Amino acid sequence: MQMIYPVGENRQFIFGKRQMTELTGFIRVNRQKITAVFLNVDILKINQLALFKNTWRVPVFDRYSIVLQIFKEHANTKIAKIQVALAELPYLSSGTAGGGHTPYKAQPACMAKIATYNHVQQIFEHDRRERKLRAALEKLKQHRNLLWNKRQRKDVPTIAIVGYTNSGKTTLIKALTGDERVEPCNQLFATLDVTVHAGRLDNHMTVLFIDTIGFISNLPMDLLSVFSATLQDALLADVILHVRDISHPDSEAQYANVMSTLRNILPPEKMENVVVVCNKTDLIGDPSNEKGSDNEDMFISAVTGLGLDDLKNKLQTSLLQSCDLLEKKFRVPFDGEHLRYNFNNPFNTCT
Ligand code: GTP
Repeated sequence: MQMIYPVGENRQFIFGKRQMTELTGFIRVNRQKITAVFLNVDILKINQLALFKNTWRVPVFDRYSIVLQIFKEHANTKIAKIQVALAELPYLSSGTAGGGHTPYKAQPACMAKIATYNHVQQIFEHDRRERKLRAALEKLKQHRNLLWNKRQRKDVPTIAIVGYTNSGKTTLIKALTGDERVEPCNQLFATLDVTVHAGRLDNHMTVLFIDTIGFISNLPMDLLSVFSATLQDALLADVILHVRDISHPDSEAQYANVMSTLRNILPPEKMENVVVVCNKTDLIGDPSNEKGSDNEDMFISAVTGLGLDDLKNKLQTSLLQSCDLLEKKFRVPFDGEHLRYNFNNPFNTCT
């Protein structure tokens, strides 16, 4: 892959004349190897896209279309699909990289009226579709809230796992719950939907781990709302576990980004329930050399199991605090109904 930096995404044309000629020559000479071109700008304008596509004769992507494509491939539940469809709407209607229709300017004059008429039709169709999608989303959200309330009524403590994409959230859930159905993947956005996995802490407290969509740097603005909406539900959890990939070169910036997003979404008192953990410690040298964060850092490896016992203890303590629970010891008859009651009530610990 060759990196060529566009001169500015707000100009009418991203490249200067000479740079464009060189780039076009390069793409033509390497026609066999170049199957698509990615331009590292948020979103291409319709005239920019038309020019690049017509000149280079290969598919052209911008940041928005790439992220949208990944979101689309990984959206499994109805709610995620609708959120992606909503994010796609402005993109399709503006005819940018995802839409790819010919700009009106390039059409013959006699077609202008038809084009205008079609354009009005498109706006109506766009509005109708948006209304439909928003109504469906609202309905699904209400249903999800109901499920949440039900879950909370059942008094099962919840832990939401947040962090950058590929930081090891799913792997950690698998390590903590032993859930064999959980499949971590070495790819970005493997988890787009919020998924829930039951587990038990060492004090036998049953907890629900909520896997969430991973963070990404420089997410285009329109996709940010899709992302935050997906995250918001999960953040009703009793404890939020922020998983950092400590081996990542941008680990510090990623940490700051996640924490500032959480501060934006969460009420201040909820920030006390955030536990930060540095994952992938097996990939770095001495963890004590790593720059610390605001919280007391915990160093773990979801793959080797390093530090997981300490993490479980920390989660236990945080849950007791955030759920306002007390740890008490009672002697109960071994075969009586007291013991059965304790095992059936997820908030009671039984050892
Ligand atoms: P998204 O679903 O995209 O948000 O990713 P995620 O944060 O859930 O990451 P996931 O658990 O899918 O792990 C991503 C990759 O990192 C996988 O290849 C894991 O095997 C690897 N991985 C996770 N934890 C560790 C760790 O502690 N050490 C090492 N070496 N690799 C890890």
